[in-house]
Amino acid sequence: MKFLVTAGPTREPIDPVRFISNRSSGKMGYAIAAAAIEAGHDVILVSGPVCIPPPPGAKLIAVNTSDEMFEAVHAHLNGIDIAVMCAAVADFKPAFFSSKKIKKSGGMENIPLVPTRDILASLAQMQKKFLIVGFAAETNDVRENALRKLRKKKCDVVIANDVSRMDTGMESDLNELTLFYSSGKTVSLPREEKNFLARKLMRFFEELQEKS
Ligand code: PMT
Repeated sequence: MKFLVTAGPTREPIDPVRFISNRSSGKMGYAIAAAAIEAGHDVILVSGPVCIPPPPGAKLIAVNTSDEMFEAVHAHLNGIDIAVMCAAVADFKPAFFSSKKIKKSGGMENIPLVPTRDILASLAQMQKKFLIVGFAAETNDVRENALRKLRKKKCDVVIANDVSRMDTGMESDLNELTLFYSSGKTVSLPREEKNFLARKLMRFFEELQEKS
């Protein structure tokens, strides 16, 4: 199979030295990319700025902003069988970029924000058919929120994880996942290392591909 995997955070610049971002380390997305390569698949890895090396064998497309990630994903959809959207894309970006460093004396009480483009949701509009796997990073009402994203973003599967804790989910080496399928099926994968979880995910992705 040919995978497109997104990973890591995006950075939305305020001025040349400041940005809005989040805690995503890229570990979950990179583990998925590594597991796919290990299983003999081709991988394009579209990654925001992270501090871990890309898995050998992945074609790395490094980006910074949500707009760059949007363009990079759309430029690499040709021939893919599955898009796994694990990146923590910023939901908002500053409405304006100041090319000069904003002075402390000027204050930053009012930075207007505008929504970023939703990369995952944009995939459902494509003519080409490939499997769409979204992630849902939740702190509460995990099932309801994940099912809402599954429907709204027209995914084949949404993989939910809890990002309210420090010992699982974002930044941690460990995670606990629940897969919500558009067919109504649900699969829970208990807490363990992201590398092991990613290997398990491969079996679900391959099964999904066989049935599609
Ligand atoms: O990187 P780690 O530290 O290992 O942490 C892993 C993780 C917690 C970041 C990962 O497992 C995860 O949950 N990734 C999705 C994070 C996220 O942005 O979730 P969300 O519920 O806000 O977004 C839902 C989906 O829409 C995601 O697939 C996201 O990539 C996508 N999205 C969101 C906003 C946007 N503008 N474009 C998008 O494509």
